Amino acid sequence: MEEKREEEIKRICREVIERIRPDEEERKKVKAVAEHIIAKLNKKALEMDIEAHAISVGSTARNTWISGEADIDVFIMFPEDVPEEELKEKGLALAKSISDRYEERYASHPYIHAYFHDAEGRTEYEVDLVPCFSVKAAPLLKSAVDRTPFHNEYIVKRISGLEEEVLLLKQFLKCRGIYGSEQRRKGFSGYLCELLSIRYSSFVELLRHASKWKCGERIDIEGRGKYKGEGKDPLIVIDPVDPNRNVAAAVSWDSFCRLIDASRDFLACPDASFFALAEEKAMSKAEFVKLVKERGTELVMVLFEAPDVVEDVLFPQLRRAEASVTSMIERNGFMVHRSDVSVEGDKAFLVFELLVWCLPEMKKHVGPPVTLKHHSEQFKSKYKPFSFGKRKAFTEKKNNSDVLLQQPVRIENGRYVVEVKREYTDAVELLKSELKSCGLGKHVSESINKGYVVLKNEEIRFFEGVGFFFRDYFGLANSF
Ligand code: UTP
Ligand code: MN
Ligand code: MN
Repeated sequence: MEEKREEEIKRICREVIERIRPDEEERKKVKAVAEHIIAKLNKKALEMDIEAHAISVGSTARNTWISGEADIDVFIMFPEDVPEEELKEKGLALAKSISDRYEERYASHPYIHAYFHDAEGRTEYEVDLVPCFSVKAAPLLKSAVDRTPFHNEYIVKRISGLEEEVLLLKQFLKCRGIYGSEQRRKGFSGYLCELLSIRYSSFVELLRHASKWKCGERIDIEGRGKYKGEGKDPLIVIDPVDPNRNVAAAVSWDSFCRLIDASRDFLACPDASFFALAEEKAMSKAEFVKLVKERGTELVMVLFEAPDVVEDVLFPQLRRAEASVTSMIERNGFMVHRSDVSVEGDKAFLVFELLVWCLPEMKKHVGPPVTLKHHSEQFKSKYKPFSFGKRKAFTEKKNNSDVLLQQPVRIENGRYVVEVKREYTDAVELLKSELKSCGLGKHVSESINKGYVVLKNEEIRFFEGVGFFFRDYFGLANSF
C-alpha cells in the first residue's frame, strides 16, 4: 500500500515536470534574450559614461522558471558610493534607453518593467530592469533590492540538480493561490521556494516535513541565524546571506496553514489535480444571487476608486480598513460572518458577509454596578427623568443621542440597565453614514472621501474581476 502510493507520487511528479519544465528551445531563447539585454545595457552604459554593469538574476538565471512564464530579471549594479538620486536617475535612463516599450514601476524603489521580443520576434518577454547598489555584503544594503545579487550567487551555487523540485513546489503553491510574497497573496516567494528545496533536497521530502509544521517553524540552513522575530511569524527561514532577516516574513498564518493542509492531503491521496490551475471561469451574477439566497446571509460591498498607489502599499491599508469597519459594524450590534478585500481594475472594494444586518429599535444599555456609589449617581442623574416610573415612549434627551424607551432604569445582575433607541437598525445605513469615521489608512481614506457606494446582495455590480473574486471567496475554484 505504502509502496504503491510512493510509486504513484513519483509518477505524478514526473508527469507534472514534463508539463512545466521549459524545453531546450525555450531555455535557449530565454537565455539569449537575457544575454542580449545585458550586452545592450553594458554597451549603453559605456556610451553614456555611466559606471554600472548588468547581471541576470531571478528564476531565469537559475533555471527555475515555469515553462511559458519566464519573467527576465536584470539588475543594474552601481558602485555603492553613488548618491541615491544619481542611481535612480541614471539607472532608469539607462534602462529606458534600451527598451522600446516599458512602464516605470515602484517596489521599494523605482525600476523599469519592459517588453522584449526574441530574435525571431515571435515571443514577447516581460523584463524587470532594476537598478541597485553593489554593496560589499548583503547586510550592508543601502536599498531593499541590494540583497538580490547575493541571493542569486547563493542559489546559483547550490541549485544545480534541484531545479525540478523547485518547479514542482512553485506549481503546487501556485495552484493553492499561495505563490508570491506580494501583499495581495502573502505567500511564498521564488527565493523561498529555492531555499526550501535546498533544505529538504526534494519536493516530496519538503511536503513530509511541512505536513508536520508547527507555528514558529524555524529553518536555518547555515545555522548562523540571528533573527528572533516577535513570536508572531508562523515560519522563519533565515536568509543565508543576511542572518538578521526572515525570508518567509511575508508568509501569512493562513498561507502557512494552507501548505500544511495541502501537504497532508497530497501525501494521503496523491493526484495530478493538485498541480492543475483552476479553470478560468468566473462566477456569474445569477449564481451569486442564488447562492447568497441559499446561505441566507447579507453580502455588502463598499466600492470606491482604487487609489493610485502600488498594490503592496494598498493591500495593507485595505486590510486595516476591513478590520476597523468590522469592529464598527459589531460595535453597533450587527454580526460579521466573514470579510475580504480586493482590487480589480481601477476599483477597490471591501466585502462583508453579515449574519445579522437588521436589528430592533430597542437597544440595551448597561450602566455601572450599583455598588459603585459615585458612578451610580452619575448614571441615575443622567437617566433620572425616567427612573421613577415615568413611562414616556421615545422621549428625546437633550445633548444626548440616547432616547429612552418606555422602561425605567432597572437592575440586572447588580448593574443598572436602561433601554434606549438604537441609532442604526440597518447595517447598510450605518456604512453609508459612518464609514468615514473608521480608521482607513491614508490613501484609502482619501479615495473614500471622494466618494463610495454601499451595495448589497443583488445590487452588487459584476464588473470585470468581481466574478473571480466571489468564485474564490466561496471556494468554488478548488475542490479540496
Ligand atoms: P521575481 O519576483 O521575478 O521572482 O524576483 P523569481 O525568483 O524570479 O521567481 P519567478 O519564477 O519569476 O516567479 C526576482 C528577484 O529579483 C528581486 C526579488 O527579490 C528576487 O530575488 N526583485 C525583483 C526585487 O528585489 N525587486 C524588484 O522590484 C524586482
Ligand atoms: Mn522572476
Ligand atoms: Mn521579476
